[in-house]
Amino acid sequence: MADSGFLTDVKTLRERARQHLERGAVTEGYLANREVVLKLLNEAIATEIVCVLRYRRHYFMASGINAQAVADEFLQHANEEQGHADQIAARIVQLGGAPNLSPDGMLSRSHSEYVEGESLTDMIRENLVAERIAIDSYREMIQYLGNDDPTSRGMLEEILAVEEEHAEDMATLLDRHEQPRYAGSVSLQQTAEESFTKQKEKTP
Ligand SMILES: [Fe+2]
Ligand SMILES: [Fe+2]
Repeated sequence: MADSGFLTDVKTLRERARQHLERGAVTEGYLANREVVLKLLNEAIATEIVCVLRYRRHYFMASGINAQAVADEFLQHANEEQGHADQIAARIVQLGGAPNLSPDGMLSRSHSEYVEGESLTDMIRENLVAERIAIDSYREMIQYLGNDDPTSRGMLEEILAVEEEHAEDMATLLDRHEQPRYAGSVSLQQTAEESFTKQKEKTP
């Protein structure tokens, strides 16, 4: 039989569970620093809400040829970010905290920025930047939690995977919307240079 000496015996587990019932899901075995975790999760909520607002603004402001497909993508992301904020808020409550949804200071608690952007390409680029910030900050939170709070960690890992998809979506859109203009300007410049060189060759 495998040695199970590293597990807490059932009697102790049962006794511990009966103590501090007011702490709900937070048992004595909770190893993380609850205050720090609640602060990080509240920053994550602010990050998500700022992303919801930015994507929604972009959804309504996206205009021009081929803007509809991009706008639909913005809306889908806005709704998914809202879902993330809700998931995180529920986890905060489970940990005995309170989600901070106050608009006061929301932007300074958020890791990502709220940039409106002028053109469709600007909007896509700003969303890509925000997603890359979210990816790095979630990755750091996951590393910080380690094995001390597997539930919060698992939730953040799921969210991180979605942010990575979002970033990829934005990178693909940026590529699609930037390429023709860029390629066009390069070929125009090349044409100008070529004709200049030809002109010089002709000149005695
Ligand atoms: Fe999100
Ligand atoms: Fe995202």
